[in-house]
Amino acid sequence: MTVAKVIIRNLDPEDIRTVFELGLAAFDWPSESVFWSEQVVRWYCESARVVSFVAESDQMIVGFILCFAADSTGCVGWIAVDERFRQQGIASKLIHRALLVFRALGITKITTLAREDGRANRFFQRFGFHDCRLRKVELLLDPVALSQGTRDSLLSGTLASEGTHMQQTIPEYDILAEVYDVWAAADPVCTPSHDFYVQLCSETEGIIVELGVGTGRIAVDVARRNKPIIGVDISLSMLEQCRSRAVEAGVQDHIELIQCDVRSFTLPQKAHLIVFPFRSIGHLLSLEDKKQTLQRIFDQLTPGGRFVFDHYAFSEQWARSHDGIPRLMHGQLSADRGGLFIWDTYRYDFAAQQMNCFITIEKSDKQGRVLEKTHCPLSFSWILPEQVQRLALEVGFEVEALYGDFSYTNFGASSLDQVWFLRRPT
Ligand SMILES: C[S@@+](CC[C@H](N)C(=O)[O-])C[C@H]1O[C@@H](n2cnc3c(N)ncnc32)[C@H](O)[C@@H]1O
Repeated sequence: MTVAKVIIRNLDPEDIRTVFELGLAAFDWPSESVFWSEQVVRWYCESARVVSFVAESDQMIVGFILCFAADSTGCVGWIAVDERFRQQGIASKLIHRALLVFRALGITKITTLAREDGRANRFFQRFGFHDCRLRKVELLLDPVALSQGTRDSLLSGTLASEGTHMQQTIPEYDILAEVYDVWAAADPVCTPSHDFYVQLCSETEGIIVELGVGTGRIAVDVARRNKPIIGVDISLSMLEQCRSRAVEAGVQDHIELIQCDVRSFTLPQKAHLIVFPFRSIGHLLSLEDKKQTLQRIFDQLTPGGRFVFDHYAFSEQWARSHDGIPRLMHGQLSADRGGLFIWDTYRYDFAAQQMNCFITIEKSDKQGRVLEKTHCPLSFSWILPEQVQRLALEVGFEVEALYGDFSYTNFGASSLDQVWFLRRPT
C-alpha cells in the first residue's frame, strides 16, 4: 500500500497503545514481554520523547523509532514500520530525523544492537553504522555546536517537531537537498562532469568511492552500469535523496551510503578509485582541512589507487565582476504547478580565499506571487593549481595528470577547470 505524505513527529502519550501494537506485529512476538510492552513505550515517551518519533500518514501511525541518550551516547532502541507500508523510505526518514536531533544535541556517538537479521544490519550500515559483526553497532556523527538556548529548547521538546530552527545547526546542503538537482543543472559543467565521472568509474576495476555523493547524480548512473559504488556525504538529506533515486532506478543494492565528514571517513575496504566531483573540495575551507582530507583519502586508497577530483580555475576578474550580484540559476513558472526560482549570490573574501554563496529559493503560486523564500548559505573556498600540487606532494601522492576540462585537454592558461588525477604510489 502506498502512503500519502509522511510526517515525522515526536512520540506523544496518546500514541503509546498504537506504537506498542505496531511493534508487536512488526517484531513478530506473540504477546507483551519484558522487552516489548506498553510500559516500555511509555518510558520512551516520558524519558526520551525528544529523540523518539512516529511516522504519520493520513492521521495513521505507520512507523516509529524509539531512542534514548545516556552518558553522551545515543541509542536506537526500537524501529519499526507497518509491514503494509514498507519499502517507501519511512524507516530512513525516521532514522534521519533521530540522527539530526542527536547531532543537534551534540551527541556524536550512536549505538544500536546488531541484529541477527542481515537486512536490518545493512539498513543501519547505510546510515554509517559499522562494526555490525559485534553486538554493538556504532555510528559516529559530526559534533555540531549549539547555543545553550537551542539545546534547552531541544531537550524540552519544543524544537524537535518539524524544526526549521535546527537548520542553522545542520550541514549546509540539508536545506538545499530538495532543489539540488535543478540548481546543479544550471552549471555549465553539470553534464560534462557527470559523463566524465560515470565513464571513469565504469572503466575502473575494484572498490569505487564517491566523496560528497550528494543526491547520487553520478553514483546512481555508475550503479546503473552494474558497478558497485560507495557514497560518502555529511548531509543526511542529500543521502536520503540519493537513496530514493537509487531505489527508483532499482540499483539500491549497488550503492552503499556512509554519512560522514570526508575529513574523517573510514571505508570497509581500501579503494581503487576515490572521486570527489563537482568542485566539492572547495567546501573544505582552509588549506589545513584540504590537506587533512587528502591525507585521509591517501590512507583509504590501495597502493596504486587513484584520487580524481575537479575544481574551477579561479578567475579574480570574473569574481570581482559577479561579487554581490544575484544570478538566476533556475526559473520556471508553470500554469498548473506554480513557480520555482533559484538565485545564487556570491560574496567574496579575497584575502581569506573564501566565498559565501547565498542560494535563494523562491516558490510562487501560478501568478508568480512568492509564497515562500529560503536563503541557503554555502561556504566555499577556491584552490589554485600550485596549492593542489604542494598539498598532494606533501601527503605522498604522485601527480598523474592535470587536465583543463572534462575532455582530457591539457591544463593551460585559458582553462576554465582543473581536473586532477593523483595516485598513491605502489
Ligand atoms: C557540490 S555537491 C556534489 C554532489 C555530487 N557529487 C554531484 O556531483 O552532484 C557537494 C556535496 O558534498 C557534501 N559535503 C560538503 N562538505 C562535506 C564534508 N566535509 N564531508 C562530507 N560531505 C561533504 C555536501 O553535503 C554535498 O552533498
